[in-house]
Amino acid sequence: ALVVRQRMKTSGRWARAMSIVKEFEEKCGTPEGKLKQVADAMTVEMHAGLASEGGSKLKMLISYVDNLPTGNEEGVFYALDLGGTNFRVLRVQLGGREGGIVHQEFAEASIPPALMCGTSDALFDYIAEKLASFVAEEEQRFQQPPGRQRELGFTFSFPVMQTSINSGTLIRWTKGFSIEDAVSQDVVNELTKALKRKGVEMRVAALVNDTIGTLAGGRYTNKDVAVAVILGTGTNAAYVERAQAIPKWHGPLPKSGEMVINMEWGNFRSSHIPLTEYDHALDVESLNPGEQLFEKITSGMYLGEILRRVLLKMAEEAFFFGDEVPPKLKIPFILRTPEMSSMHHDTSSDLKVVGNKLKEILEISSTSLKTRRVVVELCNIVATRGARLAAAGILGILKKMGRDALREGGEKTVIAMDGGLYKHYTEYSTCLENTLRELLGEETASSISVEHSNDGSGIGAALLAASHSLYLDEKSS
Ligand code: GLC
Repeated sequence: ALVVRQRMKTSGRWARAMSIVKEFEEKCGTPEGKLKQVADAMTVEMHAGLASEGGSKLKMLISYVDNLPTGNEEGVFYALDLGGTNFRVLRVQLGGREGGIVHQEFAEASIPPALMCGTSDALFDYIAEKLASFVAEEEQRFQQPPGRQRELGFTFSFPVMQTSINSGTLIRWTKGFSIEDAVSQDVVNELTKALKRKGVEMRVAALVNDTIGTLAGGRYTNKDVAVAVILGTGTNAAYVERAQAIPKWHGPLPKSGEMVINMEWGNFRSSHIPLTEYDHALDVESLNPGEQLFEKITSGMYLGEILRRVLLKMAEEAFFFGDEVPPKLKIPFILRTPEMSSMHHDTSSDLKVVGNKLKEILEISSTSLKTRRVVVELCNIVATRGARLAAAGILGILKKMGRDALREGGEKTVIAMDGGLYKHYTEYSTCLENTLRELLGEETASSISVEHSNDGSGIGAALLAASHSLYLDEKSS
């Protein structure tokens, strides 16, 4: 190593570093033509996933939601939203046709990392406990009469094979969760058992993915919402499909003629997606190798990690940060996407934020402005690829729905969007919206809009609990 280092004096090092950047940039390229191929591949896989169970990497899960909120929902409902590093509990008071959301309260807690890889009981006990204290506090505050049946909408943001609106088995974990004994279990049953253990009386009236919750929450306030996309720790999409276009659905045809589909697009893959050596290495070393490829290049859990891997290679092979490879740079997931985002958005002329982040997180004491500029460039490459591919995914859905061109009668299509990545990483969200416009063309783009739904998934779950609790009552009486 010493010999190599000697030979690679400063100018050689810089040239080598730049060639690594250049190669990475080329491999991440997403020209329009390629994005259109990705969109077409998405449409094809959607058809295949709807045709038969296991017909595609895209699971196209049936949600059992065949009616979205109408605005008539009324009463007090709870929701529990579990899906990433945080989980929330909510209490929503719905006022019916005239009233809308009369009142809403929520509490948030982070999931201790140990629980993400422990046992099913430990995770659900923890959640049930938090829910129990939230319910107790709220009911005291609102002086709710005891003895009323409490209804809960459960947003569980992992792939679930639903068996009804309020039951379903976990197919597998994603996003860094790995609790073996929960796989193939009915998650509502797991939650219900924990609620019993903690003495909470509550019925789970709806089990929904966060995309489904977001779609429901979005529809409640805007009837043109037909698609929901999450770009957060993970990524996924849901949309309203015609029931007759789902060959694998053998149940009764819903009155509405519609069925909401949870695509689980995080698991999408296509030969048209630009992948690099860094993506392959990240995948192989992940908790779920070979799975969630689309998620691994577009979502918040991974963007910072991709950046770290490129920087590490530059440090090792081109001494980008000096003679030593900064030891911290070798720690997986140390560079989180929010940090990458603040570096990317650094507008100071001397890139002070970048310098500080490199110092704080990676303990790289001093960097030249030139070096910091390269770091920003890398952020841009990683974020741009992710955002453009997500836009291509959306185009794929619009194509499947026949909404990728202007519609007769000037009908609009609204995409309800949620997730921390989209909300906080402005360069990313702006790039996504610009790309969508580029792909659709100005004229069509005018009929399609992306609306940010703020934590719609929890409210959506409460709304679905409201409409389905009635249905459950009818079924049991
Ligand atoms: C992961 C989950 C999916 C969820 C998405 C966004 O992809 O598998 O169910 O919707 O993350 O939270």
